[in-house]
Amino acid sequence: MHRSFPDGFLWGAGTSAHQVEGGLENDWTRWERANAERLAAEAPARYGDSPVWRDVRDAATTPANYRSGRGVEHYDRYGADVDLAADLGHTAHRFSVPWSRVEPEPGTYDEDALAHYRRVCDTLRDRGLAPVVTLWHFTNPTWFADAGGWTNPDLDRWRAYVDRVVDALGDRVAYWVTVNEPEVYAAMGYLAGEWPPDRRNPLAYFRVRRNLVRAHRRAYDAIHRQLPDADVGIATNVTHYDPAGGLPNRLAARLARRVLTHYELDRIGGKQDFVGLNHYFHRQVRYGLHSGTDVRSDLGWGVNPESIYHVLRTVGAYNLPVLVTENGIADRKDRLRPWFIRRSLHHVGRAMDDGVDVAGYLHWSLLDNFEWAEGYWPRFGLVAVDRDTMEREPRESARAYARMIDRGGLAERPGERPE
Ligand code: BGC
Repeated sequence: MHRSFPDGFLWGAGTSAHQVEGGLENDWTRWERANAERLAAEAPARYGDSPVWRDVRDAATTPANYRSGRGVEHYDRYGADVDLAADLGHTAHRFSVPWSRVEPEPGTYDEDALAHYRRVCDTLRDRGLAPVVTLWHFTNPTWFADAGGWTNPDLDRWRAYVDRVVDALGDRVAYWVTVNEPEVYAAMGYLAGEWPPDRRNPLAYFRVRRNLVRAHRRAYDAIHRQLPDADVGIATNVTHYDPAGGLPNRLAARLARRVLTHYELDRIGGKQDFVGLNHYFHRQVRYGLHSGTDVRSDLGWGVNPESIYHVLRTVGAYNLPVLVTENGIADRKDRLRPWFIRRSLHHVGRAMDDGVDVAGYLHWSLLDNFEWAEGYWPRFGLVAVDRDTMEREPRESARAYARMIDRGGLAERPGERPE
C-alpha cells in the first residue's frame, strides 16, 4: 500500500544544545563533573543486559562518557550539519537555545550567542529547512539553579530571557517550543533523583511541573506580543498506556494518562497553537506496567512503532495541529531504525487518516549525541558521529528516511519487522 503525506508536511530531525553543541557551562555540566565517576562505576549494573553491552562496555565504564565536554562540536559545525540535513531531504530542523549561554549572569546577555542562533536560523532557511526552536531543554544557568531552579523560579527573569531570544530570532522561527518535557524533567530530577538536582520529593516534583507550565504561559504571551501569528507549544513526552483488559487495568491506564500526559496540556489550556509530541514508550497496563514487546533498543527500551498511532489519537483530542517533535531509538548498529522509521510513519499516516492534523515528523536525533545520565554511548543519530575525529557519517536509516521524504511518503511495503 502506498501512503503519501500532504504537501508542506515537515520532515526532519531534532537536537538539543546541551546534547550536541559542546563548550557549555550550566547546572548539568556541574552535575556531570560531580557524578561521572559514579555513573561509570554503576554502568555494568545499569546496562549489563543491553543487547550491545559487549560493544559499549569500554565506553560506558569510562567517566569521560558522562561529561558532555566538546559535545559533537555542533556549535562550530552547525553549517556542515545543516548541509547534511538538507542533503538528506529534511525540510525542518529542531534545535534548542541554551539559556546558560545567552544569559551567563543574571541580566547579562551574550549578544554573540544570540547572533549565533540567528545565523543558525538563517542558515536553515537558506537551505530550505523550517527552524523549530526550543527555549528550554533541561539545562539551566547555574545562577538560576542555585536560586532554587524550577522549584522557585524567577519568572520575570525567564520572561526577559524569552524576550531576548524572540527579539533576536523573530519571524525566522517556524515553530516555538517553550519547554521540553516538563514531566520527564521533573520525574528524573525531583522524584527519581537521577538527574540534577538529585531530589526525591513528590511535592517538589509537582511544584516543578506546575512552574514549568507557568513558564510556558509566560513565554506564550511574550512570543505572541512580538509575533502575533507565531506557532507556540510545548513538547510533551506521551507514553502509550495500553490496558490489557479488565476494569482495574483500564482505570489504571486512564489515571496514568491523566497524571502523566494530560496534566500539562490541560493546564496550558488555550495558550498553545500546536502540540509538540515526543514519543518513545509503550506500556502495557496489566496489574503493573509492562513493555508489551520483545523488540529492544540498545538502552533496553521496548520498541513498538504502532504506539505512535495511539498517542497521536490521544493528543489529537486537543483539536490542534500536532508536530512530532521527537521519536527515535538508541540503535548503534542501525539494526532497527530503518524499519522503525518506516513503520512509525505508517502509523502517523493512519492517525492522519483518522483526522489528526499532523504538521510534521522530526526524528530524534539528527546526530549521535549526549544522552544525559547515559552519556555518549547510546546512539540516537540518523548520522553517526565519531567523537575522536568528529566525522559525520549518515547511517543507512538516514538514507532510507531520505528516500521516504523524496517520495513524499512510503512506498509499497510498509516495512517488515527485522529478525
Ligand atoms: C529528550 C531528549 C532525549 C531523548 C531520548 C527525550 O526525553 O527530550 O533530550 O535525548 O528523549 O532519551
